[in-house]
Amino acid sequence: MGDSWIHFSFFISATFFLASIPFSNSQLAPAESRILFQVQQLLEYPQALQSWNNWTNFCSLSPTPSLTIVCSGNHITELTIVGNKTSPSQINPKLSPSNFAVSQHTLSDRFSTDSFFTVLTKLSSLQKLSLVYLGLWGPLPAKVNRFRSLEVLNISSNFIFGELPQSVSSYQSLRSLVLSDNLFNGSVPDLSSLSLLEELDLSNNYFGPNFPSLSNDLVIINLGNNSLRSEIPQDLKKLNKLQFLDVSSNKLVGPIPSFLFSLPSVQHINLAKNKLSGAFPPNASCNGKLNFVDVSSNLLIGKLPTCLASSVGKRTVVIMWNCLSNTTSKYQRPYAFCQKDALAVMPSVRNEEEESTLKLGIVLGVIGGVVAILGVLGLLILVIYRRLHRKNGRDYRSESFVMEKTPVRGSPIGRHVPQPMRMTSLGLPPYHVFTLEDMEDATNSFDPSNLVGEGSQGQLYKGWLRDGSVVMVKCLKLKQKHSHQALQHHMEVISKLRHRHLVSVLGHCIVSYQDHPSTAGTVFIVLENIANGSLRDHLIDWRKREVLKWPQRMAITMGVARGIQYLHTGGVLGNDLKIDTILLDESLTAKISSYNINIPSKVGAESPLHGQDTSSSSHSENPEKEDIYRLGVILVEVITGRPVDSKSELDDLKFQLERSLAESPSKLRDLIDPSMRGTFAYESLKTVVQITINCLSKDPTGRPTVEDVLWHMQYSVQVQEGWSSSGNLSGNLSGNLTNKM
Ligand SMILES: *[C@@H]1O[C@H](CO)[C@@H](O)[C@H](O)[C@H]1NC(C)=O
Ligand SMILES: *[C@@H]1O[C@H](CO)[C@@H](O)[C@H](O)[C@H]1NC(C)=O
Ligand SMILES: *[C@@H]1O[C@H](CO)[C@@H](O)[C@H](O)[C@H]1NC(C)=O
Ligand SMILES: *[C@@H]1O[C@H](CO)[C@@H](O)[C@H](O)[C@H]1NC(C)=O
Ligand SMILES: *[C@@H]1O[C@H](CO)[C@@H](O)[C@H](O)[C@H]1NC(C)=O
Ligand SMILES: *[C@@H]1O[C@H](CO)[C@@H](O)[C@H](O)[C@H]1NC(C)=O
Ligand SMILES: *[C@@H]1O[C@H](CO)[C@@H](O)[C@H](O)[C@H]1NC(C)=O
Repeated sequence: MGDSWIHFSFFISATFFLASIPFSNSQLAPAESRILFQVQQLLEYPQALQSWNNWTNFCSLSPTPSLTIVCSGNHITELTIVGNKTSPSQINPKLSPSNFAVSQHTLSDRFSTDSFFTVLTKLSSLQKLSLVYLGLWGPLPAKVNRFRSLEVLNISSNFIFGELPQSVSSYQSLRSLVLSDNLFNGSVPDLSSLSLLEELDLSNNYFGPNFPSLSNDLVIINLGNNSLRSEIPQDLKKLNKLQFLDVSSNKLVGPIPSFLFSLPSVQHINLAKNKLSGAFPPNASCNGKLNFVDVSSNLLIGKLPTCLASSVGKRTVVIMWNCLSNTTSKYQRPYAFCQKDALAVMPSVRNEEEESTLKLGIVLGVIGGVVAILGVLGLLILVIYRRLHRKNGRDYRSESFVMEKTPVRGSPIGRHVPQPMRMTSLGLPPYHVFTLEDMEDATNSFDPSNLVGEGSQGQLYKGWLRDGSVVMVKCLKLKQKHSHQALQHHMEVISKLRHRHLVSVLGHCIVSYQDHPSTAGTVFIVLENIANGSLRDHLIDWRKREVLKWPQRMAITMGVARGIQYLHTGGVLGNDLKIDTILLDESLTAKISSYNINIPSKVGAESPLHGQDTSSSSHSENPEKEDIYRLGVILVEVITGRPVDSKSELDDLKFQLERSLAESPSKLRDLIDPSMRGTFAYESLKTVVQITINCLSKDPTGRPTVEDVLWHMQYSVQVQEGWSSSGNLSGNLSGNLTNKM
């Protein structure tokens, strides 16, 4: 706020200075002296007031930065006390109204704002009151309006919470209202009746969601770091004297009003870190005195108005982290980022359900088209392939591993990451170590609108990297203390686990405690975004289920089995496999999202992907066979098209499958999902059902290995291909299968 505030405060102190000179030797009224002693006691004897005694002549104390008393007649007109406590924003982690607690930063629990202001308001001639860094806590009582002639009220940097009482709007002579860096929340009362108000500083509170109603003579408005969620009101157009406007770090939405940069007195405008959207008004013009404009980190699109674009050297213009075009600024996001978020923060433009139906329709259409084209190609390739590989039934290992198989309980990932694991990462996105700034940037400072889920260990955010790609950011607060180095090493190991059928970890960011730089406090794990939903979604939504014919279902489950094979080869066992955590991408490629990448127990027993305590699976006698069992459950669900929710339901389905296999093909046909009737060769289905039943064997040692499962599935695929290529299945269903293998 610089110059303008200096002028302003000079003006005010000059006024008081002149007013106070003739009376500087006056004796304070005994009643007011007593009030000061009470204040000293209620403020718990802050350093600034410690020298007071019965002989102190308050009106002749020379002003210091921590104490100023000015008298007029024998009354106090100015009282400034600056303590040595901290303010909410200086406390880490940042304090909010909901986690306030009395501490060494505040006055003790004996303090009451109500009794304090009751005493203080008896200073009936007070014109300027500043109480800063004193640890005042509690709600501001409505009786603050008893100060009849107050011109300046500055109670910044305390812990005052709750709403600002409506009664402040009755201060007829108030010129400066400074409540910054407290814990106020709720709406700001209508201040438009404060006709003399020149400075309003409500910054660093939790005021919101509406933009306050203001009077027209304001010179300085600081509403930065609050919770305003409205649009910038048109009323500001009337503020002819406005020089300084800071509304940064709120959640303001809507467009930038066209008049803003041309307000007659405006010099400084900070709109950074909001959700302002749309293009700049084309006819926006700038006041010649305007010397600072910050619109960074919003959702602005289009071109910068000429008066801002062409003012190099004349004024500071900060525009980064928007989606502006035709600028030389490197730091602009892709257009889609702003478009998407702008929609999300706008009042609902379109019925959400309508939109998702529309999207699904498009997706289905696209899949249909792609499937049809691939089908024709697939048939051709299939014929050629089958001629070449007729006897190659066992050759399903598209990725060959040479690493030792050394599963170690408790530390599932071997210390040495094998060469072949890197080979398989070909074609997968590269791994990055991110900075905290990158993470803030991607998630728009962890904006709640990007929060996808929240668990006991942390949150999952949707994010956008600078290249425009969509990612998931998992934020894990570590409960135990871990050395930065150990965690770093663990993340390096995880970074090497890449496979076509695993959700890729794209990178991480380790944040250390400020006071212990070698101890990690939080880990952010950046995951690939798999956008097409889970296997469960596909089984329970009839429209999605229709897409899953037998060949598609085989491709998906084979993908899961391949993923398991890869994990088992790397010694990663006891993965929490479920249809909910098998994700599908646009081409229906299965991706396992729940693999057991435990941070070693020394670092905390939580899987970075899901943040859950996976101790239950590691307690399993045989985590390898546990995975096979869970694969069996997935197969049952995929075959019958029904998510299985209980053990008894599963046992029942298993029993029915066993019986129908023994009885007749028609019995088995009755059991399977009707959506895939007519799309399978019976022999193919039978093979899979058989291996499924084996997977579900009660005795873990009776369950097949993942290689056995893959062998049977591969056999089943061959049978199916033979069946469909002899004209049993229309091309558009088999083609996709070939594509998947
Ligand atoms: C603040 O003042 C108190 C006395 O009121 C004193 O004991 C304490 O050391 C001071 N703290 C700092 C950080 O100066
Ligand atoms: C001030 O005077 C009162 C009585 O008038 C006495 O009780 C008190 O102890 C005195 N305080 C100091 C600091 O001298
Ligand atoms: C202010 O914060 C308190 C504590 O979190 C909460 O109970 C109250 O509802 C909030 N008031 C408003 C108006 O948001
Ligand atoms: C509030 O008062 C304190 C102490 O006099 C002063 O340092 C600070 O600048 C004031 N704040 C504003 C915004 O005027
Ligand atoms: C908002 O908070 C940030 C971080 O604490 C600070 O750097 C910035 O100056 C604050 N903005 C205002 C207007 O006070
Ligand atoms: C810009 O144009 C709009 C509509 O044409 C008009 O309402 C607005 O007053 C204009 N603003 C300026 C600054 O000329
Ligand atoms: C981009 O801006 C320059 C001046 O900054 C202007 O000359 C040029 O025409 C603009 N291009 C487009 C496509 O608007």
